[in-house]
Amino acid sequence: MTTSPRNPWVLAQRAHKMNPSVLREILKVTERPGIISFAGGLPSPKTFPVSAFAGACEKVLREDASAALQYAASEGFPALREMVAANLPWKVDPSQVLITTGSQQGLDLVAKVLIDAGSRILVETPTYLGALQAFSPMEPDVVSVASDGEGVLVDDLDAKAKGARFLYVLPNFQNPTGRTMSEARRAALSARAAELGLPLVEDNPYGDLWFDTPPPAPLTARNPEGCIYLGSFSKVLAPGLRLGFVIAPPALYPKLLQAKQAADLHSPSFNQRMVAEVMKDGFLSRHVPTIRALYKSQRDAMLAALEREMPEGSEWNTPKGGMFLWARLPEGLDAVKLLPLAVEKGVAFVPGAPFYGADADPRTLRLSFVTASVEQINTGIAALAAAIREYAQQHRAGRVPATVEA
Ligand SMILES: Cc1ncc(COP(=O)(O)O)c(C=O)c1O
Repeated sequence: MTTSPRNPWVLAQRAHKMNPSVLREILKVTERPGIISFAGGLPSPKTFPVSAFAGACEKVLREDASAALQYAASEGFPALREMVAANLPWKVDPSQVLITTGSQQGLDLVAKVLIDAGSRILVETPTYLGALQAFSPMEPDVVSVASDGEGVLVDDLDAKAKGARFLYVLPNFQNPTGRTMSEARRAALSARAAELGLPLVEDNPYGDLWFDTPPPAPLTARNPEGCIYLGSFSKVLAPGLRLGFVIAPPALYPKLLQAKQAADLHSPSFNQRMVAEVMKDGFLSRHVPTIRALYKSQRDAMLAALEREMPEGSEWNTPKGGMFLWARLPEGLDAVKLLPLAVEKGVAFVPGAPFYGADADPRTLRLSFVTASVEQINTGIAALAAAIREYAQQHRAGRVPATVEA
């Protein structure tokens, strides 16, 4: 940016690293009215416990308004920190819990505390774009670790881990692929990371949304001193609360806390008290199963529709929880090029390519199965399959569909 008397602003180096999310640009096309969208990453509003919030909101204001509306401690509301610690499947002291403004803020704090310009950080292939966005202003050298249907391939770490500040890893129902790391892979990863002295940043916003059996124990449970764990209330209560948490080893906690103080002093006191009020007496153990049942039936509807409709050569996985399914187009097709045709036929998805650090697989795409109704899933997958067939025909005839226009 050139300065002049009328434009005196000089951007910091790191501001040049902040880019509009590629995804957001792509999603503009998908927000046209009448489109059935499998593109968004939003939880279903049907799962928001509105009446529980209404009761808690009234109670907090009646009994605790002066504290709920006041500045508060940066660490978070003590009762909520205690509940978070008690709900985790390994021994966590509440003093290790830092309540954050969504787990997205956890990623931002981790970036500020652990990344220097040029620091090597390792990520899965593909990985959560919002994490790359949080890390990139700190100017890291982002290195992708080879991954399969279970996540990172442990053997690929040996050549890449030297000097790395951390590996960012999503073992449960990953965004974007929906994949889950098996017990054997977790055990191997945890052991190798400890041998290599490689810290792990484990992001787990979807772990409670399992369909048949709970996922294996978190990586952090196996080596709490070598891991930072990020959790969220967004997928089990509501994302508009903007509440999440970080579990950090005592050696790191004070630095994350200082970064949090500088960022926003504390997360909203009122929301924290309301969530603590809602959660007390085991509300989540009654509420979360209803989300699991809804999302499982939606996943099943999408799997059945894919089976019925998709052309030969298409592939997809069967996520065991979460919100996303990962599909792959027949040989030679590119999901970015398919998108305008699909939108023309009334359906949207997110191409997989932007989720890769390098060596993107252009055939991949992410489908969310949680916000569309079963009827919309049936219509939308039929439309998607029709778009793929039309694109494949054009491809065979040597024609290329127009690229996406926002
Ligand atoms: C993998 C992952 N991490 C973190 C987040 C951020 O979640 P929140 O800030 O709402 O807790 C998301 C949101 O979709 C996500 O998919």
